[in-house]
Amino acid sequence: MAENIQARVDELHKLLNQYSYEYYVKDNPSVPDSEYDKLLHELIDIESQHPEYKTADSPTVRVGGEAQSTFEKVNHDTPMLSLGNAFNEEDLRKFDQRIREQIGDIKYMCELKIDGLAVSLKYENGRFVQGLTRGDGTTGEDITENLKTIHAIPLKINKPLTFEVRGEAYMPRSSFFKLNEAKEQNEEQPFANPRNAAAGSLRQLDARLAAKRKLSVFLYSVNDFTDFAADSQNDALKELDDLGFKTNQERRKVNNIDEVLDYIEYWTSQRESLPYDIDGIVIKVDDLSQQEEMGYTQKSPRWAIAYKFPAEEVVTQLLDIELSIGRTGVVTPTAILEPVRVAGTTVSRASLHNEDLIHEKDIRIGDSVVIKKAGDIIPEVINSIVDRRPDDAVPYHMPTHCPSCDHELVRIEGEVALRCINPKCQAQLVEGLIHFVSRQAMNIDGLGTKIIHQLYDNNKIKDVADIYYLTKEDLLPLERMGEKKVENLLSAIEQSKGNSLENLLFGLGIRHLGVKASQVVAEKYGSIERLFEVTEEEFVSIHDFGHKLAQSIVTYLENDDIRSLIDKLRQKHVNMEYKGVRTSDIEGHPEFKDKTIVLTGKLQQMTRNEAAEWLELQGAKVTNSVTKRTDLVIAGADAGSKLTKAEKFGTTVWSEDDFINKQNEISN
Ligand code: IVH
Repeated sequence: MAENIQARVDELHKLLNQYSYEYYVKDNPSVPDSEYDKLLHELIDIESQHPEYKTADSPTVRVGGEAQSTFEKVNHDTPMLSLGNAFNEEDLRKFDQRIREQIGDIKYMCELKIDGLAVSLKYENGRFVQGLTRGDGTTGEDITENLKTIHAIPLKINKPLTFEVRGEAYMPRSSFFKLNEAKEQNEEQPFANPRNAAAGSLRQLDARLAAKRKLSVFLYSVNDFTDFAADSQNDALKELDDLGFKTNQERRKVNNIDEVLDYIEYWTSQRESLPYDIDGIVIKVDDLSQQEEMGYTQKSPRWAIAYKFPAEEVVTQLLDIELSIGRTGVVTPTAILEPVRVAGTTVSRASLHNEDLIHEKDIRIGDSVVIKKAGDIIPEVINSIVDRRPDDAVPYHMPTHCPSCDHELVRIEGEVALRCINPKCQAQLVEGLIHFVSRQAMNIDGLGTKIIHQLYDNNKIKDVADIYYLTKEDLLPLERMGEKKVENLLSAIEQSKGNSLENLLFGLGIRHLGVKASQVVAEKYGSIERLFEVTEEEFVSIHDFGHKLAQSIVTYLENDDIRSLIDKLRQKHVNMEYKGVRTSDIEGHPEFKDKTIVLTGKLQQMTRNEAAEWLELQGAKVTNSVTKRTDLVIAGADAGSKLTKAEKFGTTVWSEDDFINKQNEISN
């Protein structure tokens, strides 16, 4: 009997592994999905009746097991390095020249640079035993259970080898679209791109959730070639294929840098036809002994380089120009576009900044326009294509009156923006309410834009203090509101009363008073009472505070309406004292404490404000310009002159990834 069970279990393992391989690695299934499901359920049943037959590499682990409480930190046996970047032909030719000077003629392996997450998979005697994230390159996180849910990762390979194989886990576009559709239906924030979605999925503590996310993987390197016959990258990839791993089949071995450039040109134009995102091309010296000869720098191999695609540009049609009125009355034109896919997402709106820009670029409704988007950054209209202009397209003119309150719009001297200066303008008031509850202000979770609009339209809130007077009866009749949601919302409102003074100050939306200045003012004066007494001169004497800001704070606080608003808040016991830590008391982290740090370029995974906030908590001083005294520059995408300056001064520069890795290191 036991023998029979064991034999059936073995057979089920074999069949299920084979079907996974055919479907997910070879993209060539031999049986319908239903057959796989049937056998899997048979195995699940056997394992539940006879748990002793369940092994760590059973195909049933693909569905995910128990949720974990954390991911364990694990040191990599050999560090996971990164690659140097090339952005143009010149960079690539330099790379090629350096190599040829050192070792003469060489052949290159060109591979697609998959836009996902680097992972390292450990096999012992042919079984997948552990999978790690890259982490900071030295230490990664153990995400084995999540990786096991990726069918393209073999749980068992066809030779009893012990080694580590590395590659990129990613989310195919089709899975990404499905996931975001579902998220939108549940009114959850969709992922910005497949890369973030993949990262989010692999960080799920519950592998059953990761299993639903349909990730895949391409393997591209082995960290120890002892058991491999290969003497080139090309052969190594073939061996990985033979062992049952999924490698990318679009790779091409080429004879020289010109052929590398051809390959790049080809994929620059064809990347959209792939079912997954790539963000560049990786070029590697093919011969393994030549790789060794070139060696490594501290951070990356000298024998490889990553060519990064430029920010993607696409053409679409400008359907309309919509105007939005910000909290300070600035009227911003937004392009409404024929939806188009660019840099991993579908774009239907883009910023047009201001009227001058629309005229300078002569952008007209109906035009074909070029849109640019890099990573997660808000798309921009670059220019319009005049040759394709329809006959009836007329130049665009901004209205003379506010589209919300019909008050005349003014152009303040020295500013390009048009502004509605009516303090009672509804659009501005609503924006002000939205700002008040936003994360860096009072951070009232669940009080979203739609709810605020509804409450405003129903006369339930007219100013920010009204938020604290809301009752269950006010909220329940709103669309998509249930008892539970109302309860959560009221408790979030209640909780926000305890916020420190700087949140309130920032939330009030005093002109020119940003997050940072709010923090400085709150920390320095301690309470709103004390602030009422501070003079303009006193404010100006604060480092980095100009007259405009000083005057703005004083005028604001003098205003009788504002005084009553503050009283109204006070009656509901909204805290008006500084509760935070004083900068001098911050213990911080030695890596950052008292360091002067500049953030530049566009960060993908957090806003610059969030990064600055975090750094300040570690005791760092975040400043705006790079000087000789700057200790560190953290540079996101498209960093410009600040980065150049940092390079000139020899200042340490970190990428966003370097920064995130350090954050992870510290917070764990
Ligand atoms: S080779 C020593 N090949 O790009 C590092 N990397 O910094 C060897 N990537 O972290 C990396 N596709 O996550 C290599 N075909 C490919 C790749 C690839 C994507 C990622 C990888 C690495 C980053 C480069």
